Amino acid sequence: MSKIVIRSIDEWRRFRAALTGSLGFVPTLGGLHEGHAALIQRAAAENDLAVVSLFLNPTQFDDPGDLASYPASLEDDLAYAEAQGASAVLAPDREAIYADGFRFQVEESPLSRELCGAHRPGHFSGVLTVVLKLLNLVKPDRAYFGEKDYQQLELIRGMAEAFFIDSQIVACPTVRDADGLALSSRNARLDAAGRALAPRLREALACPGSDGQVAEALSRLGFDVDYVATRFGRRLAAASIGNGQGRVRLIDNIPLAQICAASDANGDNPS
Ligand code: PAJ
Repeated sequence: MSKIVIRSIDEWRRFRAALTGSLGFVPTLGGLHEGHAALIQRAAAENDLAVVSLFLNPTQFDDPGDLASYPASLEDDLAYAEAQGASAVLAPDREAIYADGFRFQVEESPLSRELCGAHRPGHFSGVLTVVLKLLNLVKPDRAYFGEKDYQQLELIRGMAEAFFIDSQIVACPTVRDADGLALSSRNARLDAAGRALAPRLREALACPGSDGQVAEALSRLGFDVDYVATRFGRRLAAASIGNGQGRVRLIDNIPLAQICAASDANGDNPS
């Protein structure tokens, strides 16, 4: 169990007001894994205190089935967060965060309607709204976000700047399994065949050729491709894999510098 678990907003406010020293914050949906662990460890290393929030934010789920089957266990997450160096965990209930009934929302355009936003209507409004609420409550010196969700990171950076949020937004590299698959809570939903296919997403992103050619290659492999696109100096993709009961949606991205040169990949480099 984490040393301090705070479930009410009033209790959190009292706790925050009494704190001295720097605070590093890692917001999460729960279902913690080594990707979250890297953020928590870094927050603990760079600040006097690390705080993790566990909040399965309903407003960012455009698919109710995805929300219902999200693999998060509060007890496991509390123990895990503490083991990674969190001094306190904020785990508010939905009514506390959305006392306004989601009347007030953060809307961004155009980026929140592109890429993942084009396939998940309302998703980024849910993300930005909850992140603004959490940053206002937690008032961290630094808040840590993963590059795995690159579009989310860009939107949060933009919001922090636009609304003069004092917290520094810190980007952390994507943590991957040994076979290259980006860690994600949703990976737990892959069946054996899906898990074997999943690392090919990262592999395909690194292939030379156009985004369209990469999308075609992924489709041929059995992915249901939402998009492959080049933005922010990176190649990004979202694609789903069937698991017998439904679909598991995976996202990933790599810096353009990690795309293999065509001549090397084809083995026709004259040198
Ligand atoms: P969640 O998916 O739980 O992720 C919490 C944080 O961990 C995000 O910043 C995400 O980018 C980061 N993360 C997840 N997997 C990672 C990996 N393999 N490597 C590095 N970082 C990783 O993202 C969200 O929650 C929510 O949208 C949230 C920001 C908490 C708002 O509800």
